[in-house]
Amino acid sequence: MLPAAELHLHLEGTLEPETIFAIAERNKIALPYSSIDQLRARYAFTDLQSFLDLCYTNIDVLRTAEDFADMTTAYLDRAAAAGLRHAEVFLNPQAHTARGVPLPEVMAGVASALSESLRTHGLSTGLIVAFLRDESEESAMATLNAVLALDAAFIGVGLDSAEVGHPPSKFAKVFQRARAEGLHRVAHAGEEGPPSYIWEALDVLGVERIDHGVRCLDDERLVRRLVEDQVPLTVCPLSNVSLRVVDDIASHPLSTMLERGIKVTVNSDDPAYFGGYVDDNLDALTRAGHLTGADLVTLARNSIEASFADPGRKQQLL
Ligand code: ADE
Ligand code: ZN
Repeated sequence: MLPAAELHLHLEGTLEPETIFAIAERNKIALPYSSIDQLRARYAFTDLQSFLDLCYTNIDVLRTAEDFADMTTAYLDRAAAAGLRHAEVFLNPQAHTARGVPLPEVMAGVASALSESLRTHGLSTGLIVAFLRDESEESAMATLNAVLALDAAFIGVGLDSAEVGHPPSKFAKVFQRARAEGLHRVAHAGEEGPPSYIWEALDVLGVERIDHGVRCLDDERLVRRLVEDQVPLTVCPLSNVSLRVVDDIASHPLSTMLERGIKVTVNSDDPAYFGGYVDDNLDALTRAGHLTGADLVTLARNSIEASFADPGRKQQLL
């Protein structure tokens, strides 16, 4: 693979069924499924919420720093094997603290794995703390304050979970505070939600990238804005198929977005649930006839340029 970065990856979505069972056994937690096959049988989603329900059930096995480190290491090993050179990963602290897992336990486990990756794999990393948009702005602000107070290593903030009914503007104050702290800002928008959420993410939250954003194609003026400002979109094709954002990979709009001049990147979102990692997403698009060799070069280059890697690292990878 050409030097490339993954920019849209939820650590919680990397828990493979085998890992869920292994960690459950270690922590003596009874799972609501009796076998890996029975769990896999549930991986048929009708929309974003149906996936979130299963994902949030499964993360209940994560209790200790070791669990968070193991989850993160397993992803980094797989990402490096695919040839990725840089990865910016989301973590949802609220999904763990709400279950009673102490924040320092969560952050220490993830940080210990991330800090090893450049040395062991030549894979640089960045952590993005994502807020659950179906929770209150107060909860997001408290989370941001708690993470800042820990002096945890993270590069930015994001916004994810159930999109419709939870517009970006709900989190204006939190993103303003993140900006004042010098943090990077991204938000999921235009996955299931309307183009107006993409406008809000840009103009109210001041985000530097849009996660998903595929619904921008419903708004011609928005497409022109994205092209003019070269706003990166972190698109996740296999996720879009799994969550029925598109009918199938053949009808995915990625090649249209490229043709329109939008700065798109290809990412895996929740690879354990949606049928694969970045390399699998690129393979699926290529098999469906969406990508030329030149497109693959453009996508790899876009991923590095759109990353928050420091300028020296970007230069190394471009
Ligand atoms: N959390 C994990 N994956 C997500 C997605 N695709 N959209 C919103 N929230 C998510
Ligand atoms: Zn996502």
